[in-house]
Amino acid sequence: MSNQLEKVKELIDLRAKARIGGGEKAIEKQHAKGKYTARERIAQLLDEGSFEEIDMFVEHRCTNFGQEKKHFLGDGVVTGYGTIDGRLVYVFAQDFTVFGGSLSETMAQKICKVMDMAMKMGAPVIGINDSGGARIQEGVNALAGYSEIFQRNILASGVIPQISGIFGPCAGGAVYSPALTDFTLMTEGTSYMFLTGPKVVKTVTGEDVTQEDLGGASVHASRSGVTHFTASTEEEGLQTIRRLLSYLPQNNLEEPPLITCNDPIDRLEDSLNEIIPDSPNKPYDMYEVIAAIVDNGEFLEVQKDYAKNIIVGFARFNGQSVGVVANQPKYLAGVLDCNSSRKGARFVRFCDAFNIPLVTLVDVPGFLPGTGQEYNAVILHGAKLLYAYGEATVPKVTVTLRKSYGGSHIVMSCKQLRGDMNYAWPTAEIAVMGGAGAVEVLYAKEAKEAADPAAYLAEKEAEYNKLFSNPYNAAKYGYIDDVIEPRNTRFRVIRALQQLQTKKQINPAKKHGNIPL
Ligand code: HXC
Repeated sequence: MSNQLEKVKELIDLRAKARIGGGEKAIEKQHAKGKYTARERIAQLLDEGSFEEIDMFVEHRCTNFGQEKKHFLGDGVVTGYGTIDGRLVYVFAQDFTVFGGSLSETMAQKICKVMDMAMKMGAPVIGINDSGGARIQEGVNALAGYSEIFQRNILASGVIPQISGIFGPCAGGAVYSPALTDFTLMTEGTSYMFLTGPKVVKTVTGEDVTQEDLGGASVHASRSGVTHFTASTEEEGLQTIRRLLSYLPQNNLEEPPLITCNDPIDRLEDSLNEIIPDSPNKPYDMYEVIAAIVDNGEFLEVQKDYAKNIIVGFARFNGQSVGVVANQPKYLAGVLDCNSSRKGARFVRFCDAFNIPLVTLVDVPGFLPGTGQEYNAVILHGAKLLYAYGEATVPKVTVTLRKSYGGSHIVMSCKQLRGDMNYAWPTAEIAVMGGAGAVEVLYAKEAKEAADPAAYLAEKEAEYNKLFSNPYNAAKYGYIDDVIEPRNTRFRVIRALQQLQTKKQINPAKKHGNIPL
């Protein structure tokens, strides 16, 4: 064998060694837990054969606690680039088979390298987390490594889409990288996220809690809102990430991809002309409205189990990617509260950062009253949504279906918050407040003196409703651009979005605003 061939063989052997990470036994252990390895995950995430690995020969430099005797090529993370639907993405996947995927100084450097490349090339970065946290043997160097990653997450925020998949443990300060990214996806039953684990919780607070109840996927999907998506299998999770990216541009200077639409743009949905119940207190399902108007009924919902009174997610109109924000009358009557305001605000800001137009469907009775809300700063949380809509310069199309009262009317992308096209259905009720509440304020004294106070108030309520429970009063002032036939909503929204394609609006120059956090 020639010298050169020998060297080539050595390379091939080294690559093979790197590809088995922590070794066959560790891989078996990983599989036994129902988990894939880092490389298997990347292979499923990216277009077939598109992955180009980098830094395969990186090794840690730690000499504490006998670490100098334990070396694995690649050091606990697989990094590189590839494509999803033919578009460039950067990826890192922690390799649990090597020191439990724990973060070393060199591993952090590998992750930072792909993040820097993603920023330079203007492409999304996807991180798959499966790690025991800071590599304990490396002490402060591991902490410094995390900090380097966080700093890059912060600088990349609003520049390139950042997506985190949590496919195993993600604990301690490590949770802050996913938290800083745009979207987090957790696998059910095999992943968890918490700042302090059950043992520390028990020591500090005396509380007994399992790992799953403290930071499992369902907890973060429904109670904390930390995760945006969950998946019952890793395959499903990776496919969801691919699907999510299909709605997003590569970076903040590009438009989202436009796809060919085979759903007729003027498709009439007769059912929408009859979807609003006669009784104002009866709900209907906003999902039906969304499904009826978007391309092929396809909707990628974000945070679907959290603050269900507001629905947010991605859809397309005539092939154009949009962010849909909609009140859900079927859940808490679609009221705005602390959680739904935060959920809505974050989504609106994401869409605005990445040039994704917003379509807002309004049926909101107001903000949820009470000490529970006030003590939890509903003022500040509501202000977040208000701020987000008011700051957004992407095309904004609003359709008011039914209720739109008071502060919540303003917050839900009203005309004066620079709504571009504000439509209303004939069933819209745009007013300071609902009829019953309004007459109790206006006619409290008179009702007391009336022979039949209830009948008196009912009569006044009917008068109020006649005057205000309609869209025409707002349309009279131009606060509503047009009253539209519900079954024609899809077409009118598409027309509006087409018109708004060249919209240019620039906010005043500033370092950054001071959103009420
Ligand atoms: C070094 C680690 C490690 C770590 C796991 N390993 N975590 N090595 N540093 N943080 C190693 C294990 O020693 C073991 O090595 C291998 O990885 C697999 O781990 P197991 O324990 O066998 O796996 P499993 O039973 O599945 O348990 C997984 C685990 C557990 C729950 C994650 O390993 C664990 O509790 N690890 C420690 C978690 C932790 O406290 N991390 C520090 C958090 S503080 P061998 O050689 O036996 O295969 C933190 C601060 C970050 O992260 C701050 C950022 C700002």
